Amino acid sequence: MKLWAGRFSKEADQKTNDFNSSISFDSRMYEQDIKGSMAHATMLGSCGIITRADMDAILNGLEGILSDLRSGALPIDPDAEDIHTFIEGELTSRIGDAGKRLHTARSRNDQVALDLRLYLRGECDAVSAQVRELALVLCKKAEMYADAVMPGYTHLQRAQPVTFGHHLMAYAEMLQRDLGRIADAKKRMEVCPLGSGALAATTYPIDRMQSAALLGFPNASQNSLDGVSDRDYCIELASAMAILMMHLSRFSEEIVMWCSWEFKFIELDDAFATGSSIMPQKKNPDIAELVRSKSGRVFGDVMTLLAVMKSLPLAYNKDMQEDKDAIFDAFDTVRLCLTAFIPMIDTMTVLPQNMRRAAAGGFINATDCADYLVGKGLPFRDAYKATGELVARCIREGLTLETLPLEEYRAVCELFDEGVYEAISLEKCVSGRTPLGGPAPENVRAQAARVRALLQKGE
Ligand code: ARG
Repeated sequence: MKLWAGRFSKEADQKTNDFNSSISFDSRMYEQDIKGSMAHATMLGSCGIITRADMDAILNGLEGILSDLRSGALPIDPDAEDIHTFIEGELTSRIGDAGKRLHTARSRNDQVALDLRLYLRGECDAVSAQVRELALVLCKKAEMYADAVMPGYTHLQRAQPVTFGHHLMAYAEMLQRDLGRIADAKKRMEVCPLGSGALAATTYPIDRMQSAALLGFPNASQNSLDGVSDRDYCIELASAMAILMMHLSRFSEEIVMWCSWEFKFIELDDAFATGSSIMPQKKNPDIAELVRSKSGRVFGDVMTLLAVMKSLPLAYNKDMQEDKDAIFDAFDTVRLCLTAFIPMIDTMTVLPQNMRRAAAGGFINATDCADYLVGKGLPFRDAYKATGELVARCIREGLTLETLPLEEYRAVCELFDEGVYEAISLEKCVSGRTPLGGPAPENVRAQAARVRALLQKGE
């Protein structure tokens, strides 16, 4: 029987029911729905809107439903309209009239707005824990490879020397911003919409702050129309998930490149790589590729949510039922990706000697060579030009700046002496980059320690 029995003279067509139903995707919020109903019933009882006896019957009934749903003893009816209807119907069939009093001073509109906030609160915590775990893995590896010189790139051309630890800590910085974005959006989401009713609150003497406090919200929404029709938190959180996926996608792209034969900076663990059905030699970075690709799904979820909300007049519209599929998909995808991505990173073998070899070609110490001339008093622009000529010479003669004889240096600029070879040694070039944020190994170790301390404090 429908919730709206009374007004209608005919049953809905099966096609209407099937099309309208959201139980297939909102049943995952059953815990939140029940906890919200318990808080609502408690508030109704303590405000004298329902009797204490009815309140107790409702709380016991809901407790029983919760444990039966958890254990699987109570299967979810796939024909129910949504999880709210299913639980209320089940409660009434278990406890009779008291169950029919639960929905006093409430609408499914404020109920679903509440359930979703409660559900996403848990998702924020779960994703944040995974992001922290990944960042901690990066800190650990960054410390291990704080001295591992590798070429830094711009335009994917070898540019200047960095270390593998420094490179990894760049991702740790991104992940910290991701954590900040999630925490920030979560904070804004922490207002309780219960009591907004369908759209215009209610005439019952409810205590909204009591419901809010029972559910752990520091505040209640301040406008009933906004209370039921705000989905900003979905859009903000989906955006935070999209940005996080963009970071993982960039990281994945580097993993794909680094484990190619052309780079061979890393080797993935066999347990986190895949083979080919035909080419016996293959070892493929499928996890990284899928993470790279799934980022697109999450970007799509943000667009779905924006499109669902765009142009919707106040207050609730059924369009908003479509919010859940998108925001659930965003969180599910991120969590799934991180579950595979974290151990893939944790178990990969790093090949510092290959990084060092790549760093030795490509003239990544050319800037340092110019800086050496600056140290001898030459203006930077002139030093830049002289070094450019040296690089051109090296390329012609098949040499590097390290192997170019001193006479050739001096033929281009007389300021060069034996000291140039030390000045352009890669280890020197890296260890000299000590300003805040630079790749000097001591910086990287300090950064990793600082980030680890923040993460362990839960930040
Ligand atoms: N299943 C609905 C949703 O997810 C619940 C709210 C329904 N409210 C209504 N007036 N039809 O949005």
